[in-house]
Amino acid sequence: MKPCSVLVACQLPEEVERDLDAALDVDFMPDARSRPEAELIARLEGRDALLLLAMTPANAALIEALPASVKTIATYSVGLDHIDLEAARKRGIAVLHTPDVLTDAVAETALLLLLGAARRATESIALVRSGEWKGWTPTQLIGVELSGKTLGILGMGRIGRGIAERAKAFGMTICYHNRSALPPELANGAVHHADAAEFLGVIDALAIACPLTETTRGFLNAERIAAMKPGGIVVNIARGPVIDDDALIAGLKSGHVRAAGLDVFTNEPKLDPRYLDLPNAFLLPHIGSSTVESRRAMGRTLIDGFLALAAGRDPDNRVV
Ligand code: DGY
Repeated sequence: MKPCSVLVACQLPEEVERDLDAALDVDFMPDARSRPEAELIARLEGRDALLLLAMTPANAALIEALPASVKTIATYSVGLDHIDLEAARKRGIAVLHTPDVLTDAVAETALLLLLGAARRATESIALVRSGEWKGWTPTQLIGVELSGKTLGILGMGRIGRGIAERAKAFGMTICYHNRSALPPELANGAVHHADAAEFLGVIDALAIACPLTETTRGFLNAERIAAMKPGGIVVNIARGPVIDDDALIAGLKSGHVRAAGLDVFTNEPKLDPRYLDLPNAFLLPHIGSSTVESRRAMGRTLIDGFLALAAGRDPDNRVV
């Protein structure tokens, strides 16, 4: 008998579903998001665990309604903002996520966003695809270089540090804004700024890599954008609501913000349509961790977590 019975309330890549099926007793409900919540709860009766995506909110109401058999919620994401961790803790439900294994993919996406924003990728792609490109000219689509610039990282966790490592290879100097300074072996030369306005005032580009919490929600507002140097770049690979869209769109329109590279949005997939009209917005559809390598490893991380819990051990990817 397989060690843990899991309802997979989402569609996963084929090989991940195969891995799950080989290791655990799984029931797949790929259309769970479009079904009434009562159906999900009924399907969970007698099951040990629920596996979901970041797009499925596991709020207190859902957690309280889960059958008593459910002892684990696993999310196929590193982000945890969709899960009411306190409600899970209260019910004695363990929460697993997928840290580490997607750090490289997401950090690479941050560099893609930085480069795409700095080098005017949206306008360049549109020009080539329009068939209107007249050939090389010295004045065409002049961008800015990353080399020699200062990158500010909001949230110097695993992904923030992955971005720092790569940006250094592009010749950037790194600053970061965190609640507290990292030990020198983790900061690896990056300069800590405890004060947000001071931090924003010294950087040429901002990379948002923090979790979405009540503290970070709306962090990049009009006042903070005004504290940035004119012509700065903003990149977001974390969660859309860390940015106040009205403020960023105003900054992009006025040119105070030279360009933005965004992989995540408030109210995905229905992002603020004003972004679509901005040539200086380089937009991706939340593909940060979307690589063959990460997707498979995310599944394996969850499987290892389930197996550890079933064997009475405490897995590294357990947050509650
Ligand atoms: C994550 O892992 O948090 C990604 O943003 C997908 O939800």
